[in-house]
Amino acid sequence: MNNLGTLYGIGVGPGGEELLTLKAIKVIENCEIIIAPSAMGGGNSIAYETAKNFIKPHQKVIISHFPMGKPDKEEKVYEAFKTIEEYLQQGKNVGFLTIGDPFIYSTYIYLLKYIREQNYPTETVPGITSFCASASLAGEILVIGDEPLLIVPGSQIERVKDEKYIVVMKFYNQEEKVLNFLDKEGFNYFAVKRAYREGQEIFHTREEILNNKDYMTLIIAHRNEEI
Ligand SMILES: C[S@@+](CC[C@H](N)C(=O)[O-])C[C@H]1O[C@@H](n2cnc3c(N)ncnc32)[C@H](O)[C@@H]1O
Repeated sequence: MNNLGTLYGIGVGPGGEELLTLKAIKVIENCEIIIAPSAMGGGNSIAYETAKNFIKPHQKVIISHFPMGKPDKEEKVYEAFKTIEEYLQQGKNVGFLTIGDPFIYSTYIYLLKYIREQNYPTETVPGITSFCASASLAGEILVIGDEPLLIVPGSQIERVKDEKYIVVMKFYNQEEKVLNFLDKEGFNYFAVKRAYREGQEIFHTREEILNNKDYMTLIIAHRNEEI
């Protein structure tokens, strides 16, 4: 197969266009096709909203709906792969946008499995992660010295053992369980909602976090801090 296009996985950062990298903008400009995932139906994609001012009218934009955690997600990823494959075979470059970084809890990772099986050229462009952005926004450290940092989804909160520095992501509808664990284990914490996007907020109390109910929120938690 000659003159194949390349699939670019492009991290667009947490949401504000100022946090897109120059590399991400350059690669977006070099793609004939832009695919942006949407977690909800109805065509609303945060990744697309973040990057839209850098996408030109001649570029084709496809918003793909990937229902989070639903049984038909695998099928949707395969469908997206087949669409991308067609363009790659026509020699067109495809940019797959992801919020934050493409290698942190992203649909792009599932897609890459199919792309690599068929040996299509790929390149991944890193993005500023939501937890790095959230720490900077709040002016709080993530980790220090020789300590490990554990990134944990809400569903796996019990896997925290003796770590002092953790980030909890993806805990929508599990807020109470997560906060009960953090309180019991002696963590101090705060939550950041929609960092660097419209609706951005920082919550310091348990009540505020419980009332928030927004998927695009994460918690940074510390205990027995060094400084
Ligand atoms: C599917 S993961 C995507 C992570 C992304 N790839 C990254 O590198 O940050 C979605 C989770 O990321 C977190 N998240 C994403 N964007 C965020 C933002 N702007 N502010 C706070 N949390 C965010 C939330 O915990 C959300 O449940």
